[in-house]
Amino acid sequence: MDRNITAHSGMPEPANAGVRRAAITGVATYVPDRVVTNVDLSRTLDTSDEWIVSRTGIRERRLGAPGETTSSLGAEAVRRLLAASEVAPQEVEALIVATVTPDMMFPATACLIQHRLGLPGAWGYDLSAACCGFLFALSTGAQLIASGAHDKVVVVGADLMSAIVDPLDRTTAVLFGDGAGAVLLEPAEPGYGLLDFHHRVDGSGAGDLYMTAGGSLHPASAETVARREHYLRQNGRAVFKFAVSAMADCVERLLARHGLVPAQLAAIIPHQANQRILDATADRLGLSRDRVVSVIERYGNTTAATLPLALEAAVRERRIGRGDLVAFVAVGAGLTLGASLVRWS
Ligand code: ACO
Repeated sequence: MDRNITAHSGMPEPANAGVRRAAITGVATYVPDRVVTNVDLSRTLDTSDEWIVSRTGIRERRLGAPGETTSSLGAEAVRRLLAASEVAPQEVEALIVATVTPDMMFPATACLIQHRLGLPGAWGYDLSAACCGFLFALSTGAQLIASGAHDKVVVVGADLMSAIVDPLDRTTAVLFGDGAGAVLLEPAEPGYGLLDFHHRVDGSGAGDLYMTAGGSLHPASAETVARREHYLRQNGRAVFKFAVSAMADCVERLLARHGLVPAQLAAIIPHQANQRILDATADRLGLSRDRVVSVIERYGNTTAATLPLALEAAVRERRIGRGDLVAFVAVGAGLTLGASLVRWS
């Protein structure tokens, strides 16, 4: 797909050790208790465990219980993050929430999480970039640290995709799940932290992944509900084709700016949309497939939550350690795409 790209890139050279950067100093996640397997879905949809596993790598996903919302998932992830990091609620200075399933159009989910947890000193906002939401929020949150404005910023990726997935559409209902993750950003030691990013948007692909109604273009009405326009729609093949080349391309461009090659990465933390996309990304980069962290089997595509869910697994399994170079990469609705480079501390 030949697209007209708006590129935006990051920060000064990593060699410039005097520059203030942000480090990820903690990560925590929360997923709902309810596990829905492929066999469960095949009871109501014309699909099968064999099709879903072979085409996507997904075996099960978590779906929220009645009453669970994006803010409740996100708040639990942040509560766990603060407890594990021994950070008091009053120390959080800013809270950025990446989501495409806010509790309401407004107020921002960040305000709801701030209130749920009682974060008296925090300001915050929501960031809408679909599956790139957490990636973009990480970069913008890091700027709040790098600029010297703040010393403790929380970045959340949370989505209750079950709120906008059409349960009758087998082409999307099998893909998505609900979940949340959060990271703590603090000033990094010299030479560590978020070194650089390369982000792009391409609105010419807006028609490949979207939700028609509920915004200013098609406000909610009885007709929009009857036409099932409050559900996500996707041209899966087009997004797949784009993602396969874009993910590897973003990582390579970012590394090339620093004279690095993929083999120098300890791990890639990618957006989890399809195991075939992750395998193709590894193959294109000449990496063994296990270098590309995958949790899609258990959670499916949780949109903004996939990166922190994969990061938490990589940290817990000790797949990344101090001094390692780690790349985050994502592609999503918009179209949005990008990668970030971190020297783990
Ligand atoms: N069960 C059984 N058959 C199915 C199912 C299902 N759940 N879904 C589709 N099929 C059928 C189709 O109807 C089609 O049948 P046909 O040949 O008779 O027409 C056949 O399977 C093949 O369909 P494809 O769409 O070509 O299947 P594909 O191999 O492309 O897989 C998928 C579809 C999984 C959606 C893939 O295209 C994909 O992963 N796309 C990228 C998704 C992505 O990256 N999204 C971006 C992030 S999400 C975000 O930003 C919110």
